[in-house]
Amino acid sequence: MAVHTCTALAPVNIAVIKYWGKKNEDLILPVNDSISLTLSKKKMCAKTTVACSPTFESDRIWLNGIEQDFQSPRIQNCIREIKRLARKKDYLSYHLHICSENNFPTAAGLASSAAGFACLVKALAVLYDVDDELSKIARQGSGSACRSIYGGFVQWLSGNQNDGSDSIAKQIAPKEHWPEMRVMILVVNSKKKGTSSTNGMRNSVLTSSLLKHRVTEVVPQRVQTLNSAILQKNFQTFAEIAMKESNQFHAICLDTYPPIHYLNSTSFMIIELVHAYNELYKKNKLAYTFDAGCNAFLFMLEEDVPEICALIKAAFPPIDDNGNFIKGFIDSSFEVPLDTFKKLNIAPHPGLLQHVIYTQVGSGPAIISEHLLNEKGLPL
Ligand code: DP6
Repeated sequence: MAVHTCTALAPVNIAVIKYWGKKNEDLILPVNDSISLTLSKKKMCAKTTVACSPTFESDRIWLNGIEQDFQSPRIQNCIREIKRLARKKDYLSYHLHICSENNFPTAAGLASSAAGFACLVKALAVLYDVDDELSKIARQGSGSACRSIYGGFVQWLSGNQNDGSDSIAKQIAPKEHWPEMRVMILVVNSKKKGTSSTNGMRNSVLTSSLLKHRVTEVVPQRVQTLNSAILQKNFQTFAEIAMKESNQFHAICLDTYPPIHYLNSTSFMIIELVHAYNELYKKNKLAYTFDAGCNAFLFMLEEDVPEICALIKAAFPPIDDNGNFIKGFIDSSFEVPLDTFKKLNIAPHPGLLQHVIYTQVGSGPAIISEHLLNEKGLPL
């Protein structure tokens, strides 16, 4: 008997206007709109195969090679919503096998749930032939996952409906709109596992008065300004909002009671370096943002990449550079002019960064033909 199989790839996204706080925990409805950049799937993505067959004896799921509990409520939410909208009705009675992996180490502490749920929803939608707004479904797996349903520059509209029907993502502009935009992820050497986003934002909603101020007084204006900055390709404004948003998000974490802290001393060194660099040029050439972790996401334009790579290597030299420190960047011949070094007053801190991922804005999920499950529906 046939096994019906579908495999998807889905990208990660990095928020510039942060999602932090839910007004409805069950439906995952956010307290404010957020805006993100979808990153290229070449460097980081989730890959998920879904299969159903009358021969399968039970529902099963494997994540990064390990079998997991199929009954996890967020996975169930996505499956339930997809099945409700399925047009391939004859598949509905079959058991489902799901196998998912990331092409980047989850140990690096980089958010993978967004890519993972976007990927699951995309693969299921194709398997069951669902023709609906997929961001609304991915949102119910993990809030930030709804933004990974689209490529380029994406806004998640918080929505007004109690049932969440208008809490969806929409594309502000495709990746081709601003091809010069580049992203570097500075993976900080740290073993520490922080508070999960889900628990952290729940406590912020309960205890932070700064979060209330942010939602009503700060975010609406920033969403408008960032939308225009993206449409006009205005890096100055884009960078300023990115940095202020990151800072306010981490201020809210500290304003949460008991406080949450995701940044460490290396994160603060990176923040200082970025401001010193921008100060030197008297304009924003570089911007940072940090999610619920200590790793930095830097934004820059392509023309400044060689100098910024050299700057990062000078400030945070690898202990043994096997040529793979900045993954994805080939030309390492550039050196920061001595004069720039002196002005920036860089003191090298060896070994504080594990490595750097150099990437750019990318497209949304895609369907591929290489599966993670064999013809019996078991992991390859
Ligand atoms: C700091 O989407 O992981 O990355 O909806 O509870 O699954 P849940 O939370 P999640 O939160 C992401 C928070 C953030 C900011 C952002 O991506 O906007």
